[in-house]
Amino acid sequence: MMKPLRKAVLPVAGLGTRFLPATKAMAKEMLPVVDKPLIEYAIEEARAAGIEQFCMITGRGKTALVEHFDIAFELEATLRERGKTEALARLKATSLSPGSIVSVRQQEPLGLGHAIWCARAFIGDDPFAILLPDDLILSETPCLQQLAEAYRETGGNIVAVSEVPHQHTNRYGILDIGADDGRLVEVRGLVEKPDPAVAPSNLSVIGRYVLLPQVVEHLARMERGAGGEVQLTDAMARMIGVTPFHGLRFEGRRFDCGDKAGFLEAQIAFALKRPDLAPAVREFLRNYVEVPA
Ligand code: G1P
Repeated sequence: MMKPLRKAVLPVAGLGTRFLPATKAMAKEMLPVVDKPLIEYAIEEARAAGIEQFCMITGRGKTALVEHFDIAFELEATLRERGKTEALARLKATSLSPGSIVSVRQQEPLGLGHAIWCARAFIGDDPFAILLPDDLILSETPCLQQLAEAYRETGGNIVAVSEVPHQHTNRYGILDIGADDGRLVEVRGLVEKPDPAVAPSNLSVIGRYVLLPQVVEHLARMERGAGGEVQLTDAMARMIGVTPFHGLRFEGRRFDCGDKAGFLEAQIAFALKRPDLAPAVREFLRNYVEVPA
């Protein structure tokens, strides 16, 4: 029997070195795209997919991430007093129900695999989702919801995948592809950040996963992989052939918000989707692109 998907793990312990000094005293996942922090996009996407329990893997200086989903009692009271109903509604939408969010500390930056292993008590015997908040996805149907629907078809492990330029395979987890119907891909192998010369394909894992709890047992070996880190990709690779394992080419566009150019592009793309902002943004963009290089 297939267990329903109700849990999500959000690794947010990264140091955000690429965004220094902005991230000196603030978590990079609190950086806003238009007017919402990255972490909020991830939590909203998870809720849309039916997730009810959240675990953030945090570290030093990351308390704002958990605070953000709490009830801001004084702020709410002030807004109510002042009749700011719209702002109040936006604020209320960010609080999660009592007891639905927990956080654990990773303590040492030993890799994504190690971060997920830190959530082992939360995961228990249940399937769970992972969302990497740096990967922001603009889509009709929230990406994790697409994965959750596919999981109900296939069971097993399922990861969001997308084609990347061949010369960029060394930035991602890359699939060795079996049967492929253009949407669902059978995963025959997985390699973390392979050199383009040896990459089995250019189909890469994007930061959305639905995994079976057994992955924790493989993570517990603490084997070091690419970059000397404990890699989630390596633990997942050990489950190929044991359990169904698929990649889903999701509908939507992914922005790498861990990268400055990707982050700026996300600002523009998300702003252009906003009726209150799109006309002004379109107008000023025209002025910039007409400037000769
Ligand atoms: C991580 C994973 C990688 C995946 C990527 C997606 O890498 O290790 O397999 O393709 O996220 O964004 P990172 O970006 O943390 O180096």
